[in-house]
Formats: sequence, C-alpha cells, structure tokens
Amino acid sequence: MLLLGIETSCDETAAAVVRDGVEVLSNTIVSQIDIHQAYGGVVPEIAARSHIEAILPVVDKALADAKVTWKEIDGIAVTQGPGLLGSLLIGVLTARMLSKLHKKPLYAVNHVVAHTYANMLIDQEIEFPLLSLSVSGNHSHLLLFHDYLDYELLGATQDDAAGEAFDKVAKIMGLPYPGGPSVSKAALDGDEKAYKLPKPRIEGKPLAFSFSGLKTAVLRLLQQEAGGDFTMPSFEIADKLSPQQVADMAASFQRQACEILTDKLELAYKQHQPKTVVIAGGVAANGRLREEVQNRLPVKMHYAPMSLCTDNAAMIAAMGYQLALQNQTADPDTLEADSNLAF
Ligand code: KG4
Ligand code: ZN
Repeated sequence: MLLLGIETSCDETAAAVVRDGVEVLSNTIVSQIDIHQAYGGVVPEIAARSHIEAILPVVDKALADAKVTWKEIDGIAVTQGPGLLGSLLIGVLTARMLSKLHKKPLYAVNHVVAHTYANMLIDQEIEFPLLSLSVSGNHSHLLLFHDYLDYELLGATQDDAAGEAFDKVAKIMGLPYPGGPSVSKAALDGDEKAYKLPKPRIEGKPLAFSFSGLKTAVLRLLQQEAGGDFTMPSFEIADKLSPQQVADMAASFQRQACEILTDKLELAYKQHQPKTVVIAGGVAANGRLREEVQNRLPVKMHYAPMSLCTDNAAMIAAMGYQLALQNQTADPDTLEADSNLAF
C-alpha cells in the first residue's frame, strides 16, 4: 500500500511517499527556518503564508522523488493537529482537495503520536509494549503504546516543552534559532558542571514534566553573570557574556534538561517494563540525551536519523498506514484542522 503523507503543523512544509508503513520512497521537506531565524522563533502568520506557496510543489516533488504517479497512490495521510492553526489548515485543506480530486481515502493523523512512528520506520521488529519519550518544540510527552493504535499518555509537560526551553535559553544567550542544535554546538566547549541548576518536583504527578523553572533559573544566573539583577531585560544579556560563559551555560543547561527527561523515562520504564523504548521528536536528535538514556536504561535503543526526528511527512504516512489497515478513514468533505487535538 502506497500512502502520501502531508505535514504542515509548524514551520516545515513536508510530503512523503511510504510503502506499507515502513519503506520511505521519498521524504521531501521545505524548511522555513531561514525565514523565522530573523525573529528568533516561528511567526505563525508567516508560516501559514509560506505553507500556501510551498505545499503543492512539495507534494509534486514527493511523488517525483518516489517515482510514482497519482494512480499508484492508495491514500493520503495528513496531520490534523496539534500545531499552529493557520499552518495546519493549509495541509488539511490541501489533503481534502487532493483526496476528492484523485478519489483517494483520507486519514487524519495526530502529529505528536506520529513522531513515535519515525522509530517504526527504521526498526521493523518493534515489540509492544513500547515506551516513547516524545519531545519537540511544542510538546514533551511520555506515551505507552500497547499496540500501534492503542496508546496512553503517561505524562506531559505542565508548562514549556523541552525543545521550547532549548529555544528560549538559546535566545537569551544570542544563539540562533532553532535553539536545540545551537545549544548543543555551544556546549561542546563548555563545562556542564559550571552552573548549578534546579530539577522540578511536580506534586502528585511523578511522570509530568516542567521546564519553566529551569529556564527561569538560567535567566537569573545569566542576569548575574551579565552584571545585572532580575530586572535586566533578557535581550540585553547576550552582548555582556563571554563565549566561555555561553558555552558553560549551554553545557550545564543541556545536561540538566537531558537528566530531567531521562529521570522520567527511567521511572516510566521501571513502572511499565516495556519491551521497546524509543525517543522521538526534534529533541531526540540531541546526542547528550541519547548518551544519558543509553547509560541509564538497560535496553538497546534504536534511533531515527535526524531527518526523521524533526518534523517530516514520512512519520505521518507511517501512522496513516495503521489507520488504513483499521479502515479508520476521515471525511474529505468535513475534516477540520484542530490546533489542540488531544489523544
Ligand atoms: O519535532 P520538531 O522538528 O518540531 C516540533 O514539532 O516542534 O522539533 C523542533 C524542536 C525545536 O525546539 C529544536 O530546538 C529542537 O526540536 N531540537 C533539538 C535538537 N534539534 C532540534 N533540541 C535539542 N538538541 C538538538 N540537537
Ligand atoms: Zn513535531
């Protein structure tokens, strides 16, 4: 079965063709990172407008790269949510239109759940139960999959997502967006024990995450290092820091964020004894996180390549395949984008 995946939930316009939920024939991504970099983060209106321009050429390229025609496509899987509403709308309306035009069934995919499917694309001998730490710019979730479409949410962030914390800390230190890769790069020259940072405790929710306290602690320490007090605006800090202070804070913050994530993953592992453990989403590309997880969990981890960790449409098509097997189609006349789509 050949499925076309379409993904437009944030700042990547993506389409992919995947055979039988595992074989990636094409994975086309047009990133808007360059456009949003000037603003230090994603501007929703600009993202939506860029999706409109890119989406049809991206779909055409995905088909061409896969060397398939519309005739051979068996269905269309599209991200319904969660994400930025304006961005989601472009993908959903395009998929609805293509579904009607080419008379192909439509499948509505949850973006957060689909991130875990990146790992199913690279490891075809997945055994359930599968525990997934899914961490990106918009979410931090611990998910337990009993089967492909039978999953439960064990814990989520109470405030900032893990990737968002990387992005915000990077911005304070004057490092470019997206913050994850730039913090990691700066951390290479830093001492990860240079700054002492807190770990959150969330009363009654041992598997929930919180990153806002960590981010604020970084801000306060950097205000001090820059010679100010807590009233110093964050945009004045970067120019007053030495490269070594930036490197040390990047390393200290990265270490703490990775430890917080791994603490929860380890606790969930002990509670649920899954057969497979994966990390998914943009933050899963972080080498320090991979190292921490591998050192602390007694399971062999399989990691998706970078291109499948960050937003892509191959993961959407892979999840769409499972929906197709269960005949869980969406109505091309009525499917609505849902920026807060729950599980
Ligand atoms: O999954 P993704 O591409 O988009 C969302 O669904 O949000 O994740 C993007 C997030 C950004 O916050 C980015 O800073 C973070 O993933 N990220 C990383 C790394 N690469 C990307 N965070 C930490 N380390 C990385 N190497
Ligand atoms: Zn994502």
